[in-house]
Amino acid sequence: MKKACCVALGGALGAVPAAAGIGMYLDPLVRASTDNKAGLKVRVTTLDALPSDGVPRQFKVLASHVDAWTKTPETPIGAVVLLRTSDAQKPVKAFNVACPHAGCFVAYVAQIPDLTPATPGYFCPCHNSSFKLDGQIARAGSPAARGLDELECSIQNGNEVWVTYQNFQAGTAEKVPLGA
Ligand code: FES
Repeated sequence: MKKACCVALGGALGAVPAAAGIGMYLDPLVRASTDNKAGLKVRVTTLDALPSDGVPRQFKVLASHVDAWTKTPETPIGAVVLLRTSDAQKPVKAFNVACPHAGCFVAYVAQIPDLTPATPGYFCPCHNSSFKLDGQIARAGSPAARGLDELECSIQNGNEVWVTYQNFQAGTAEKVPLGA
């Protein structure tokens, strides 16, 4: 009888930290900051910061890290390019600036090098991949096997631009979220 009581008591005490751990994992704040596969929804800027003529602009993506004990101040976790579109349903497009070839940052260029006629887009200086404004590969023989990684983007509270920030595997033709 005494032995049975000890076993029951030990099991109950062991269940307390396990339940606390499960509760912490289910907390949406903790989950959102650690699960890159699902992406992290962040407010990036406001609509008035984007040129109305569709020229893209680059923004840092800032986020706080939340764990069981602390919440760190906002720090950069990556960057995106945002551009306005003529689509009323989807007025802003967002791309991760990490080049899908090997992860260098691409930058907007008014004219993609060695492409005629003159075409604006994005250029990666590491191995010369280039992409059109819609993110598609601009030139045959591109080192990158896929276009830029588009991210979910929405307008909230009238003019706030929110992006679901995610990173994807480099060097693959498919868009595979890191952590998948
Ligand atoms: S990392 Fe961009 S072309 Fe290689």
